[in-house]
Order: sequence, then C-alpha cells, then structure tokens
Amino acid sequence: MEHRALARCHQEGQRSAVPSVARRTLWIRKSRAGTGSVVAAGGVSPGTTTSAAVAVEGHRQVHYQKLWLTGKQPTSTTTTVVYSPLVTNVGERELFHFTHVRNLCDILAEKQLVSDTVMQSRGGVLRECGDRAVKAERRTRRITVPPYGCPADYVPFYFAPRSPMLYVISRGGVATYQDGQPPLVYLVTSVSGVQESHRPYVFSDGNCASEITRHFTDLSMMPSVVDWEIMAAPYWANTADDGDRMRRRMAELLVYGHLPVTALHEVATYDHDHAQQVRHLLGEAGAKLPVSVRPKWYY
Ligand SMILES: NC(=O)c1ccc[n+]([C@@H]2O[C@H](COP(=O)([O-])OP(=O)(O)OC[C@H]3O[C@@H](n4cnc5c(N)ncnc54)[C@H](O)[C@@H]3O)[C@@H](O)[C@H]2O)c1
Repeated sequence: MEHRALARCHQEGQRSAVPSVARRTLWIRKSRAGTGSVVAAGGVSPGTTTSAAVAVEGHRQVHYQKLWLTGKQPTSTTTTVVYSPLVTNVGERELFHFTHVRNLCDILAEKQLVSDTVMQSRGGVLRECGDRAVKAERRTRRITVPPYGCPADYVPFYFAPRSPMLYVISRGGVATYQDGQPPLVYLVTSVSGVQESHRPYVFSDGNCASEITRHFTDLSMMPSVVDWEIMAAPYWANTADDGDRMRRRMAELLVYGHLPVTALHEVATYDHDHAQQVRHLLGEAGAKLPVSVRPKWYY
C-alpha cells in the first residue's frame, strides 16, 4: 500500500515537474496501541518528531502527532504519504472569491469588496450564498496573527476554484440559498495583487472554522504550509488514509476589512449568459476587467 502510494506520488511529482520532495510533514493519527496512520501531509523543514495536536473530528477528540521527516522512510507506522509540490513564486498564485452576480453591481459601485463584518453592520448582503451557521462560527473564531480579529473581519479568498463550499451549494446544501451555481461569479486576484493593494492580509493552512488550522503572515511560509498538491487536485474528499484533505483544501487568504476592485484581474462565470451579464455590469460601472467563461471551475 505504502509503496504504491509512494510510486504514485513520485509519478505525479514527475508529471508536474516538482523539483524536490525533501520537505514534508506527516500528521499521524495516534491509536491507543501507539501506532498511527497518516491523515495529512504538507511540506515543512526537515527535522525530527516535534509536536502533537488535538483536533475535533465530528464529536470525537483525536490526537495527532506531527512527524518531521528527513529521508525516504517515515519513522513511524504510516499508510500513505502525500508530497506537496514546492511552490517557488507565491506572488503568482491566484486567489478566488465567488459571489452572487447580483452583488457585483454594489461591489463595482463601491469599488471594493468588503468583509462580512462590514456587510453585517449595513444590515446584510443582497444575495447571500454562504452557510449562515458557518458564517456565525467565523465571527467567533480568533485570527492568531496581526491584524487579529476574527475570520469575518476579512474578505476571504480560496487558493483554488471548485471549493468544498461550492460543492455544498451545488448540491442545494445551503438551506437559505437555492439559486445554484450558475449565478455565482468568481472574482480573481493573486497574492501579488493583494500585496500591491497594500491591504493587511493573513493566510491559513486550512479551513478557518477548524481548531487545528494555523494562521500566518509570513509569505515565505506559504510554499510549505499550504498544500499545493491538493489545490491542484480535482477531488479533495477525505480518504481512509487522509482524513484532513477537505480542511486543507479550504485554506484561505484573508484580506483585512476591504480590497479595492483594482486588485482584481479577472471575473469568471459559469456560462456565456452570465458572462454577458457581467460584461454589461462592468461596462455600466466603467470597470475594465477581462471576463472568462470557466465551467471547469464549477461542479
Ligand atoms: N466566497 C468565497 O469565495 C469564499 C472564499 C474563502 C472562504 N469563504 C468562506 O465561506 C463563508 C461564506 O462566504 P461568503 O461568500 O458569504 O463571504 P463573506 O462571509 O465574506 O460575506 C460577505 C458577502 O458580501 C459580499 N460582498 C462583499 N463586498 C460587497 C460589496 N461592496 N457590496 C455587496 N456585497 C459585497 C461578498 O461577496 C459575500 O457574498 C465565509 O465564512 C467565508 O469566509 C468564502
């Protein structure tokens, strides 16, 4: 099993021209007998066994042990190893925020995206596609690095399209939002686009609603703490060997308070009809942004 997984990962590494697989982290789910299985992996500096963490899976508390590896073989019982490609130029990484096309008119008029906290202070958003329970949770969680606050104080971006959140929406899983995917449009920027806006930002290694998710401001950490392999994968569901895939796929870059529309470099839509609608809105607002139809970014 392990050899098959390793072989597969090596092949994937070759296909994507990954220069090195030397840096990796393994999270071992500890059993009572002291053995464990790897549930997550991402690149970090090589080292030795260093830390442990506690996570809540469903209603169960699960203990994780983090192993830092140096060579080819893990130092503990493992079942799967996932190698994260090393990302060298984080500035080029694209960032994705989707919103209902009916919100776009207000966003363009105001010339900025604003946080959930700001929208709530105005009485709410015109067309809300987010799960209200999740959003309420994000008003209580703490961001552990400057400028602090809670996730709702930031404009959220994912590192990849086809997020788990969009999947839930596509299956009608948000009771308060039943318009489906077609009216949702992606507002796309990049890490360097956010930097050039001079807005404060933080990023996470996973879903900001999860207790084990860590926050960062240091961009030099981004290649190793964000799981780029899972960002590139079309499927992100948890597996028996890796019960942390979905959390990692939901890593975010969060921009504090607001982000000017000038930081965006593309609007993407589900189909041509919505692209036309967006072009019309951009024209009316005098905003020049390329519009693309990208069905592969949807389910
Ligand atoms: N939408 C995404 O692509 C995305 C990305 C990463 C994480 N998330 C997380 O998922 C949950 C739900 O996200 P959400 O989409 O409800 O975003 P949100 O929680 O930031 O809510 C703000 C809403 O207002 C809209 N908005 C922003 N500026 C506006 C303006 N000037 N005028 C009118 N409307 C404006 C946003 O598009 C969004 O729909 C959140 O908790 C979020 O952090 C979402």
